[in-house]
Amino acid sequence: MKILVFGSLNIDKVYSLPHLPDKGEMLGCEELETHVGGKGLNQALALKKAGADVVVAGMVGKDGAFLTDYLTRSGVCAEEIGTAAVPTGHAIIGIDPQGRNQMIIFGGANRAITEPYCDAVLARHGDADLLLTQYETACVEYMLRRAHEQGITTAVNPSPYVDAVKDLPYHCIDWLILNEDEGRRITGETEDDAVARALFALGGSRIILTLGSRGALYYDGENTVKTPAFAVNAVDTTGAGDTFTGYSLFALLSGKSPQEALRDAAAAAAIAVTKKGAAETIPDRAQTEAFLKERQT
Ligand code: RIB
Repeated sequence: MKILVFGSLNIDKVYSLPHLPDKGEMLGCEELETHVGGKGLNQALALKKAGADVVVAGMVGKDGAFLTDYLTRSGVCAEEIGTAAVPTGHAIIGIDPQGRNQMIIFGGANRAITEPYCDAVLARHGDADLLLTQYETACVEYMLRRAHEQGITTAVNPSPYVDAVKDLPYHCIDWLILNEDEGRRITGETEDDAVARALFALGGSRIILTLGSRGALYYDGENTVKTPAFAVNAVDTTGAGDTFTGYSLFALLSGKSPQEALRDAAAAAAIAVTKKGAAETIPDRAQTEAFLKERQT
């Protein structure tokens, strides 16, 4: 299975804080770590670790070569990643002792992607089984429309939420994967089933709605499947959604049932949150299967 991930590549600066800052508060911090990140990079890693062949398309600055190297070392094809004349995107991430985070994203090179770049990538990877993208790069709408015209199955994680997400070409999206907050903000609904129905009504995409510690929900216009989350001691929830996205999509595209796919993804995400970082904490298949066996599901 070949998956083209068109997405963000970030340098994550992770600050361990005594608590998440209040408005106007100045906080001291004793611990800073730098990690590879970006929703595109994280989701590509999750897909690879789940078992897919993955090609990443995106943009870094001259300071971002180590992100490309990291993907290559991980077995992901990074040959499509371009270099822009602006700095690599970065995230400033504050984490509290419960593993909850607050994030500031600087788009940098992720915002330097152009339509001709998208055309060139699609011309070389029209045979992809899936195009997966998020909302951290330029040209997302353009890429979706062009991929849809070429008959490529598409999946979107419309994150982070901004109002423009409401105007995505939903009829071009086959799979929509998002968290409960994003779902509520896009639809204006509050109750899970109503959110899923309203998202489906936007363009007929199959919906995967993650519900944090409450689990996840799948909806395809007829069937609804819900699974609980696994209880673990969370250290850092950054990248949990990306892990879930990669694992659930791989399982569904491999022919697993929605129930099995959500369970696999929940297990992988549960393992990921027990360590600090995003991409580096995504478990491989063997770890995920061992976790599921241990939890006897
Ligand atoms: O989803 C987590 C990711 O969001 C981080 O790695 C950060 O870079 C932002 O893209």
